[in-house]
Amino acid sequence: MSDTDDISPSPPTAAVLTLGCRVNQTDSGRIRHLLEQKGYRAGSGLDGAAPEVVVINTCSVTLESDRQARQLVRKVARNHPDAEIVVTGCYAQRAPEELRAIEGVGHVLGNGEKFDLDGVVADRRLIPIKVAATERGVEPQSDGAVAGRTRATLQIQNGCDERCTFCIVPSVRGRSVSQPLSDILEQARTLVEIGHGEIVLTGINLGAYGRDLESGETVSRVVRGVLQLPGLRRLRLSSIDPVDVEQALIDLFATEPRLCPHLHLSVQSGDDTILKRMHRRNSRQDVLDRIVALRRVRPEITFGADLIVGFPTESPEAFRNSLSLVEQGGIGHLHVFRYSDRPGVAAADIPRRFRVPDQEIKRRSGVLRALGERILNQQNWRMVGQSVPILVEKRRRDGLIEGHSAHFLTVHALDRGQTQPGAMVLVQIEALERSGGVLMGRVVD
Ligand code: F3S
Repeated sequence: MSDTDDISPSPPTAAVLTLGCRVNQTDSGRIRHLLEQKGYRAGSGLDGAAPEVVVINTCSVTLESDRQARQLVRKVARNHPDAEIVVTGCYAQRAPEELRAIEGVGHVLGNGEKFDLDGVVADRRLIPIKVAATERGVEPQSDGAVAGRTRATLQIQNGCDERCTFCIVPSVRGRSVSQPLSDILEQARTLVEIGHGEIVLTGINLGAYGRDLESGETVSRVVRGVLQLPGLRRLRLSSIDPVDVEQALIDLFATEPRLCPHLHLSVQSGDDTILKRMHRRNSRQDVLDRIVALRRVRPEITFGADLIVGFPTESPEAFRNSLSLVEQGGIGHLHVFRYSDRPGVAAADIPRRFRVPDQEIKRRSGVLRALGERILNQQNWRMVGQSVPILVEKRRRDGLIEGHSAHFLTVHALDRGQTQPGAMVLVQIEALERSGGVLMGRVVD
């Protein structure tokens, strides 16, 4: 019997499309896994065969996020009329009826039900699926498998107990809940053992980790525990509130080279009055103090920040304070959000006369984005001529390999054509791509 005699019809396909943050992406990974357990071949895009099931995992952080979600759902319904369409995520949690009203939508699941696919999609496990003998022992070619050899996200916490006046997240994600440290370490060990080159610790409010546990754990203790795992090559933290960057964490950045020198701070504004009106726990100076302290112990560290533009009452001067904070802090990776009212949050009640006009919000966000790009560009220029370890994530269509440095700078590099995703290679940086956002180089043997 030849190898191909073993092949039976391909399993039905499913696509899981994701909008929003890293936690939502982690949720989507779990949904893909559940679909695979039900007998589907599950991917994260729509470029394969006509999918039998499409799950759309939505975000609702701004008005624009809602618009994008509705647009995506309509497009999927139009292009895949025979697919079972399931909409879930934060928008589905916040306003299920708005999504249910879109023609073609089969099911709407809130965040609490997003992993409960029984009764929502058919169970295909009874279809006999055989694998060609040549492929036995090879992971299925989903992006899960690719990610399995590169960067893995490990969610250690969910929900948020803060009440920032602009934010919808606590109402769609619930109270802060932390995973026990022992579970996290077990999962991290598994991720290292199956070959992930990098682990990213993430949460809805990462710095709140442990506050709900009696054991008194903190995010620093998680970091210390994960760093003790043998075989771990890189550990990265996702977005964190500046005030939660405690001294113990700064000490870990000082002593642990495997802790990636990049930190994304949830800054939101550079103006103290606006920060107070947002009910943020940090001041402008808190942000700068953390940046200075971290640079002192890890001079090569780079920073990212979430910033909101056009919060009600944001004057031109308040906006300039955000610009100057970014400039002073040398923050290059910016996520700029244009303020929009979210139903039920306190800022939505601020009278209209205190609102920043839409056109002005648009203009300010353009100015802020351009500043971030300029700073990122400068940081990238400083890398030219240096040799930098890169975790290879994929091979691009143009034949170059693509990956990130520990400082989270994007690198494209020429190799001898044999480097596999998941490999850690040394790249000599030779130039900056015209856009300024990507470093170009070649693999050093
Ligand atoms: Fe969006 Fe929900 Fe994340 S609102 S940012 S997907 S927690």
